[in-house]
Amino acid sequence: MCLAIGAGMVVGSLSSCATLPVYKTVTANNKISVPVSLFAQSDFQIIQPKDFYYNIGLRKEKDGTYTALLLKCTHADNQLTPMGNGFKCNQHGSAFDQEGEVKQGPAERSLKKYNTEIISGQIIIHLS
Ligand code: FES
Repeated sequence: MCLAIGAGMVVGSLSSCATLPVYKTVTANNKISVPVSLFAQSDFQIIQPKDFYYNIGLRKEKDGTYTALLLKCTHADNQLTPMGNGFKCNQHGSAFDQEGEVKQGPAERSLKKYNTEIISGQIIIHLS
């Protein structure tokens, strides 16, 4: 468990969790804004909205688009942990690939994926 997660919520702050960067922010109008510049040195970020229970995994794709996945296990709603090229649930062992598809049960449904777009140097994650 990373000590940086959950410690002191600051809007738009960046902290790191061992090798996993965590960006703390808030939602506004059912959207989350994340600076594109965060991906200068990494193609993956954990997004931790203050007013959102679950983290979001945000990955930069090779074509320059971004994939946003809700890190909520589809088996029994446990928070997922990024592991290698995917996500692992520590509750009952489900595993998901980086696209959010189930690789190992008991989960049967893929992760929720949010639409994203880039506006003025910001990645906008649409939560609705
Ligand atoms: S809650 Fe994730 S495998 Fe059961």
